[in-house]
Amino acid sequence: MLEGLKCETEVSPYTKRTKKTDFELREHARIKRRYLQHFENDAEVNVAMEEDIRKELFKLFRLEFGKSPEVIASAPGRINLIGEHTDYNEGFVLPIAIDRRTYTAAGRRGGKLFIAYSKELSKKTSFEIFPGRFEHSNFWVNYIKGACSLLSDLKSIEGTNFAIGSTVPRGSGLSSSAAYVVSIIEAVSYLYDIRLKDIEIPVLAQRIENEFVGVQSGIMDPFVAKFAQAENAVLVDTRSLDYEYVPVPPDCSILVCVTGIKRALATTEYNKRRQQCQEAVDSLSGLLGRSLNSLRDVNIDELKGLEREMDRVLYMRALHILTENDRALKAASALKKDNRDLVGKLMLESHMSLRTNYEVSSPELDAFVEIGEQLEGVYGARMTGAGFGGSAICLVDASAEEPLATEIERRYKERGYENGSVFIARSGGGSTIERM
Ligand code: GLA
Repeated sequence: MLEGLKCETEVSPYTKRTKKTDFELREHARIKRRYLQHFENDAEVNVAMEEDIRKELFKLFRLEFGKSPEVIASAPGRINLIGEHTDYNEGFVLPIAIDRRTYTAAGRRGGKLFIAYSKELSKKTSFEIFPGRFEHSNFWVNYIKGACSLLSDLKSIEGTNFAIGSTVPRGSGLSSSAAYVVSIIEAVSYLYDIRLKDIEIPVLAQRIENEFVGVQSGIMDPFVAKFAQAENAVLVDTRSLDYEYVPVPPDCSILVCVTGIKRALATTEYNKRRQQCQEAVDSLSGLLGRSLNSLRDVNIDELKGLEREMDRVLYMRALHILTENDRALKAASALKKDNRDLVGKLMLESHMSLRTNYEVSSPELDAFVEIGEQLEGVYGARMTGAGFGGSAICLVDASAEEPLATEIERRYKERGYENGSVFIARSGGGSTIERM
């Protein structure tokens, strides 16, 4: 239905420079040399870091619980290349899992008591899941409670020990919570021999976030945490849950630009956007005189024809969703043809629409995009994830990834954003289970 739609975008205020001066080229080479002295091979550094945390967690589990875990499950964080805020509108998304993961070491203890140790928080807490009371002071425990109570509808679950550790930066829009909850579901279903179909895992994870944690998030994050494949993006139709792997060209890299800012109202605003999309569906159903399930059931010409009759805000929200679906599909086919310039252009258009029509960007995210767009070797830049702070991404020429990462971070900090950082993300695979 969305094929052939015109892409609705603003003209970019960011102009891309294509030619560099000799001075800039020398400077580029100098920064690259300096950077490489520190980091011989970023991929090796990341692999070592993941292996360390896994080993450390194993030791911590033994220390805290006096015996070895029976299983260590893990799931990745993600970036989303394009297709933002479309997943709760039955639309298209194109995420890529990154090589930062959350690990859950677990073992049965029997009885009713559950004990969990969080490596990041250096905190140990015990609880019962029946009745599954919401814990305000131990927010992270609600994910475990949610997982255990929903899984116990399928099979009886007894007291369990958990040790949890992660390399996914928290509160950075990289989906640390989906990585966490998927790793818990994998660990608990392994321990109690609950045989879930693969697709049931992200569906359950989404229910946990919606029903136990209070975030009305969509399916994208747990879906990619379960199904990701290294070196590929996953094009997901969130209506049918059909998906397709789309290879990322090996000479392209992704830089994750962490703003260092998390807006206090992020969850409230996120839930509000979801509510506004539902209101747009109701309004369009009335105006079109047919019943609509979601914004996916409207086409762009119909929407535009009703611009004057709709509430302005609802119109802008719907406009973002319909054009973003179109961009996600176009970006997936451009990626397949290795047309990285087109992918980059669509990324920028996506950012502009998220900023203006959907109003979920922030000055920090805009700064990263503006900086990225000015540098040669950057194909595209945009915010990723829910927005309101968090992270932006840049799709870049792999041969210039290190100097670009350094330069983007430097320019961002120069604007007074001291807490920002940029790292090179390698793609990762979906969730794993390691029996001990
Ligand atoms: C968060 C949610 C996802 C998705 C994105 C925005 O990451 O968890 O379901 O809605 O925001 O695209």
